[in-house]
Amino acid sequence: MKLWGGRFRKEENKLMEDFNSSLKVDKRLYFEDIKGSIAHVNMLVQCDLLTKKEGDDIVKSLLSILEDIENGTLRIEGSFEDIHSFVEAHLTERIGETGKKLHTARSRNDQVATDMRLYAKNKALEVIEYIEDLQNSLEKKAKENNVIMPGYTHLQRAQVITFQHHLMAYYNMLDRDRKRVLKAIDIMNESPLGCGALAGTTHTINRAMTAEELGFAKPVDNFLDGVSDRDYLLELMSDFSIIMMHLSRLSEELILWSSQEFKFITIDDAYSTGSSIMPQKKNPDAAELIRGKTGRVYGSLTSLLTTMKGLPLAYNKDMQEDKEQFFDSLDTVLSCLNIMSHMISTMKVNSENMKKAVKEGFLNATEVADYLVSKGVAFRDAHSIVGSIVIYCEDHHKAIEDLTLEELKSLSPKIEDDLYEYIDYQNILNKGIKVALLK
Ligand code: ARG
Repeated sequence: MKLWGGRFRKEENKLMEDFNSSLKVDKRLYFEDIKGSIAHVNMLVQCDLLTKKEGDDIVKSLLSILEDIENGTLRIEGSFEDIHSFVEAHLTERIGETGKKLHTARSRNDQVATDMRLYAKNKALEVIEYIEDLQNSLEKKAKENNVIMPGYTHLQRAQVITFQHHLMAYYNMLDRDRKRVLKAIDIMNESPLGCGALAGTTHTINRAMTAEELGFAKPVDNFLDGVSDRDYLLELMSDFSIIMMHLSRLSEELILWSSQEFKFITIDDAYSTGSSIMPQKKNPDAAELIRGKTGRVYGSLTSLLTTMKGLPLAYNKDMQEDKEQFFDSLDTVLSCLNIMSHMISTMKVNSENMKKAVKEGFLNATEVADYLVSKGVAFRDAHSIVGSIVIYCEDHHKAIEDLTLEELKSLSPKIEDDLYEYIDYQNILNKGIKVALLK
């Protein structure tokens, strides 16, 4: 049963039917589709376009369809064009003629636009919850591990920091991600229901009523824009891409830190896998998969941007492609946020190895230069003096703080006994990051 069969002299080719059907993808919109239809029917009754009895019958049947889908007695399958056709066909099957009145003053174009906005808005709120969960895991792990570690630039040991400070950098990135998603929700929060196919309807309907019932701030201002706007999906997918970029950077660090070369952390067995040939291997697959899946989220964004770029107003069938891309990108970001949160809360921090790396890396060299500045040496000269101190230390396999005052004085007569206190790692942290407790 086609919604549009009347104008056709021939049956649709089977190949074409399969090619055109989006049911396998958009079946997850069943709840929003029914919710949108109920709001539409309530409005039609209010505007005297349906009788009270007709409205009640339709709403009751829509609710029974919803219940049957949720308890598994009605499976969303068959040769239906999409979820909208599926629901309408089942409605008419259940209540006959009255069911055929549901689509009064509505097009699938405003219907699908409404379903997708409702779905995207709800799911965006779920993404925010997942972000907050990961932020909590990071904050907890950070607090429990207020230990010194080397900070890096160019992946070369640079200056002393704390593991807490490093993890909290990701907390802050995620906080911006959270705000971005909230902002996207605010911008998308307008109802396209009532835009019709592209030009509204000659029936006297009440768009403000459906907007309110569906929880939107207001109806959209322009019909053509309302049915063909996919900005909100692109905006969310951009936000998801940035989230994935952050998760991928964190994954990269977890992979490095858990390597034999670093040994800064141990990823829990529950979030690692082994090798089929090398018995000793424990691989950080969860982190690698997050890093890898970042590519597909970027891919979905690029795909939908490309789909949209040449489309004339208003609706074009190309837009049906939005769902597969958005759903995949959404599912990926949710599962990655979730796995990352578990990986962070279960990982072990090997603070002794971090401390050792700090000690071996001349991470107080900048502070030796700062010390010389405090003794009246110009910074550029101090920088050069410390360079020669580092060469001396390398040649003698010593850390700067392990040199005798005599050795230090031979490298710069400005150095006094108070240098040791100045370049002590804990003292540096107390002055700088002010968060570490040396363990
Ligand atoms: N399945 C379609 C989509 O997702 C629904 C809208 C169909 N509209 C139409 N004019 N054929 O885009």
